[in-house]
Amino acid sequence: MSREDTPRCPVTGATAAQAPEPDGPTGLPLAWPVVGSTVLYAADPPGFVRRVQREHGTVVRLPIIPHNPTVQITDPEGIRRVLQGNADNYARGAYYKAFELFMGNGLLTLDDADWRAHRKVVNPAFTPGAVAARAEETDAAVADLVGRWAEHARAGRPFDLYAESMRLTCRVIGHALVGRDLSQEGEEFAEALSVALEAIFKEVGSLEKMVPSFVPTPYRRRVNRARRTLERVIARASRDADEGIGEVATLIRRSDLPADAFRSDLVTLMLAGVETTALALAWTLYETATHPEVRVRLEEEADRVLGGRLPGAADLDGLTYTGMAVDEALRMHPPVWQFPRQTIEDDVVAGRRVPADTPVLVSVYGAHYNPEQWEDPERYDPERFRPGGTPSRDRNAYVPFGGGRRQCIGKKTGLALLRQTVAAVHGRFRLTVTGGAPRSGAYITLFPKGGIEVTAEERRR
Ligand code: HEM
Repeated sequence: MSREDTPRCPVTGATAAQAPEPDGPTGLPLAWPVVGSTVLYAADPPGFVRRVQREHGTVVRLPIIPHNPTVQITDPEGIRRVLQGNADNYARGAYYKAFELFMGNGLLTLDDADWRAHRKVVNPAFTPGAVAARAEETDAAVADLVGRWAEHARAGRPFDLYAESMRLTCRVIGHALVGRDLSQEGEEFAEALSVALEAIFKEVGSLEKMVPSFVPTPYRRRVNRARRTLERVIARASRDADEGIGEVATLIRRSDLPADAFRSDLVTLMLAGVETTALALAWTLYETATHPEVRVRLEEEADRVLGGRLPGAADLDGLTYTGMAVDEALRMHPPVWQFPRQTIEDDVVAGRRVPADTPVLVSVYGAHYNPEQWEDPERYDPERFRPGGTPSRDRNAYVPFGGGRRQCIGKKTGLALLRQTVAAVHGRFRLTVTGGAPRSGAYITLFPKGGIEVTAEERRR
């Protein structure tokens, strides 16, 4: 993949000079359009994304940042262009700069030239073989979750799907990264991850910056506490890595990467991996619990494949419908609902000219609700993902893990854990959502505001 000398639209053949620039929303308040759309955006970011797509199309200028309008892309052809076709023309850019607040210079924030070495070092921990080698620990974590939920069920006690999912991913991913169950750090660690993702998002916008930096607002106190918690976890991981404890930590320690990579890459992996996978699990179980026709099929599959056992890695290939239910939940609730890049030179994206130095947002959420690609996108329907079904759909209409060379390194780890846990839960329990339908909040990730309260009933002991 290389940057093109004269970028042309792969569809219309237009050069950058010939192509029209993206539309911007015009139906927004006429006075102070930037302020108007910033307020609408802040109130409901995913809703704003879809409104803009509906009213202005799939390559659109968002006036959310004064002086530097960002281009939102929800078109599959445009997404392919950015992530693959002309990927060399896209730097991480200004938005990813804000991620350095917690992630330093690491796997997610580095531009391609410096990034390659980092990815090469940690890659061995994310191959299918490496995921399989950690199966014993993963099986134990899933068994513990089932045990805890059985106690909740017998006590008739409601619990929060999101908090429980975080507990599982802190343990499983913590084990892969630093050789320890990070849920043992208490709620402080899970809280630190969420606060860090919120802080990165707010760093991009300007609201918090309007208060002078020396003023200790409650928000800043939370951010500082999160920072201290992560520093403590990294300090311990560093001591452990000297003794070969922690698969990823040890790979980095023994590598030639710069000294700050230990902190940057581990914090990046924690922030990128733990909450995202927990959110995917919580949203999947929310959808399956509220769609009885899907739940029945999941129970039938779990009973047929597992016969009452808990699933292990060897069962995953046989759990096809469970995988479809996960894939569809990732479409409707993509944990990473958008991610940024920035043009280096002018480009043509799905027929629109995007000038040099323009921040672009690949809107995963918008792509997943693009009505040209998805019939009735509001409907939860795992059948969309039946293997071999819907061949007409563009592959880049579905990008929960991104694409191209910077595709998520934890995709296989995350999907395997999700399939295993969803099958285990439906084999043993029937869940009822008791706290009402959750509202989505959105910072870097798309999360259920206030969690998802459920009760469990045991199908079998
Ligand atoms: C359902 C769970 C997950 C989702 C939805 C998700 C989503 C994504 C997305 C969309 C990207 C691409 C960002 C971009 O191109 O700018 C990404 C990158 C990344 N993810 Fe994930 N992720 C998940 C799980 C994980 C896990 C389990 C880990 C590791 C423990 C992880 C670590 C990373 C890293 C390090 C990157 C940067 C990759 C690179 O640039 O080389 N993610 N993820």
